[in-house]
Amino acid sequence: MGWSLRTIADLSDAEFLQWAKLLEERAGIQLSLNQKSLLQSQLSIRMRELGYDSYAEYYSLVTDGLQGRLEWSILIDRVAVKETSFFRHRASFEFVRRYLQDKINNQQLTSSFDAWSVGCSTGEEPYSLAMVINDCFELAQLEPYYGVTALDISSTALAKGRLGRFMPRSIEQMTAEESKRYCQLGHDGTYEVVRKIRDRVCFTYGNVLQINDMPAVQMDVIFCQNLLVYFRRWLRRDILNSLVDRLKPGGTLVIGIGEVVDWEHPKLKRIANEEVQAYVRQ
Ligand SMILES: C[S@@+](CC[C@H](N)C(=O)[O-])C[C@H]1O[C@@H](n2cnc3c(N)ncnc32)[C@H](O)[C@@H]1O
Repeated sequence: MGWSLRTIADLSDAEFLQWAKLLEERAGIQLSLNQKSLLQSQLSIRMRELGYDSYAEYYSLVTDGLQGRLEWSILIDRVAVKETSFFRHRASFEFVRRYLQDKINNQQLTSSFDAWSVGCSTGEEPYSLAMVINDCFELAQLEPYYGVTALDISSTALAKGRLGRFMPRSIEQMTAEESKRYCQLGHDGTYEVVRKIRDRVCFTYGNVLQINDMPAVQMDVIFCQNLLVYFRRWLRRDILNSLVDRLKPGGTLVIGIGEVVDWEHPKLKRIANEEVQAYVRQ
């Protein structure tokens, strides 16, 4: 089957619910009925590429065996919202800076400093974290091992992240000094993150719903912003509870403000700062 110009019928409400259920079961992403036209346009673009004109047939393809797995990874790329930028929520990054500076000043560093960007999209968030961590260690003239693990379900987003080249719009929230220190302007007008920062970030494919099956690493910083908002409330709490198990004692969890309300955890203390929603493991 090849690319086709055939008209694809509108997605019925019943079909929408079937696709929405699949997306929620597999990726946690919750779609409401008013996102039907968005889903329809993404499905129909992909179906045209493959020459399908029936949502049911395409659904069978996506849910069928090994080929279905491959097709699913393409579809989730198209459907997931990947909006991001460097230093998107500046106050959260400044919180990480103060947190690490305190650790350095109080000589509380362990052998390595490990951060995790969960739902990292195209890399702006994990690179921003690496820049903040690098700033702190350079200022203190320390050279410990540090690294940022960047996790996402979208393989095209991860591939862009690994490339480390960004449009001027993505770096708008960087200060002039940050962009001078950490980005090189290329001939094509894009900005490339400098190698010493790129080398610190490891991009990994993964589904946050399967967090408990991932290697049991312990992190100093877990940064999870603008991901949980797409999930049901009970699922947000379940994921956060699993993230807490991945924090080193004294480690910090930083989420987007208001992304989770009425959640607390016996091992965590909330930071008293209205500009951020951050917790420290006791
Ligand atoms: C809106 S972006 C947020 C990017 C970044 N954290 C920020 O705040 O700028 C959400 C990201 O979460 C990813 N995502 C969605 N569902 C996911 C899942 N189940 N597991 C891992 N990543 C997921 C999407 O692919 C997307 O890149």
